[in-house]
Amino acid sequence: MRTVKVSAPGKIILSGEHAVVYGHPAILAAVNFRLSITGDKTGKKAQIVSNVPIGSGMGSSAAYAVATSAYKLFLSGRSWNLAEISKEAYKLEKRHHGNPSGGDNTVSTYGGFLWYRKEAESLKTFTRLSIKRKLPKVFLINSGRPKETTKEMVSWVSQRYATKPRIRSLLFDIEKTTRSFLRFLLKEENPPFGELLTENEKLLEKLGVVSPGTKALVGQIEKMGGAAKISGAGGRTQGSGILLVYHPDTQKLLAFAQKLNLKIFRVKLGEEGVRIEKKS
Ligand code: MEV
Repeated sequence: MRTVKVSAPGKIILSGEHAVVYGHPAILAAVNFRLSITGDKTGKKAQIVSNVPIGSGMGSSAAYAVATSAYKLFLSGRSWNLAEISKEAYKLEKRHHGNPSGGDNTVSTYGGFLWYRKEAESLKTFTRLSIKRKLPKVFLINSGRPKETTKEMVSWVSQRYATKPRIRSLLFDIEKTTRSFLRFLLKEENPPFGELLTENEKLLEKLGVVSPGTKALVGQIEKMGGAAKISGAGGRTQGSGILLVYHPDTQKLLAFAQKLNLKIFRVKLGEEGVRIEKKS
C-alpha cells in the first residue's frame, strides 16, 4: 500500500492583495506555518493537521488545496509535478473563492518569495525572487477572525471597482508600493521597511478592507514606533485577520503585545513550498 505525508505552507502577502485580482502584481511569501495530509490509497484514513490559522489571511485554504492536490498526485502514482499541483489547487480555490488571483496556491506550491501576476485567466506569471538583503524580524498579531469570507471581500471590492472610478487609481497606487517593496527586496533602494508596510496599510484602509477596530490597533502600533499591515483579504466589520508587524525594537513590541494581551508570533518568510514529508 502506497502511503504518504505531504505538507504545504501558508503565506503572507507583502504587498498587492486585492490589486492582484485585477492584473496588478503582488509579492507573496511562503511562511513557516504548514498544513499536512497523511494517508494511503483507501482515502478514508486521511489525516489533516494544520497550524495555519483559518480564515485569517494566511492562505489556509490554499495550503489545503495544494496539499490535497499533491496528495492525490502522489497516490495516483504519476510523477511529482509542481505546475500540475498548483493548477489543480487553483481549481479547488476557484470553487471555494469564486475569483481568486491564483497567487495563494502558487506561493504555497513553489514557496519562497514570488512576484506574481494574473494577466488573464489563462496567463498567470510568476518569478521566484532572490532576496538580496537580510530581512528585518517580522511578527504576526491576530486582529481577529474576519466576519466576511475572502470570497465576500473580493466580491465587495469588485462591486466598488465597477462603480467607483477612484478604486482603479487606488489599485495603481498599491502597485507603486508593491514595486517599492520589490526594489527594497532586491536592494536597489533602501526605503525603511516599516514605512513601506505603513504605506501599503493606508492604501488598503482606503480600499475599505480594514475594519475600524483593526485600524485602531494599527494606529496604536504606529504610535509606539512600529508598523503593521493586514495581509490577504482583510475584513470590514470585526477583525481583519493577521497583521504583519514590524518594530525596530522587538522587546518594545513584545511588551506592547503582552500589555494588550495580544497573541504575537514570529514568522519566517520565504519558506519551502509543498513537499513530501514521508512516503512508503
Ligand atoms: C487573498 O489571500 C488575497 C486576495 O488578493 C485575493 C486573491 O488574490 O485571490 C484578496
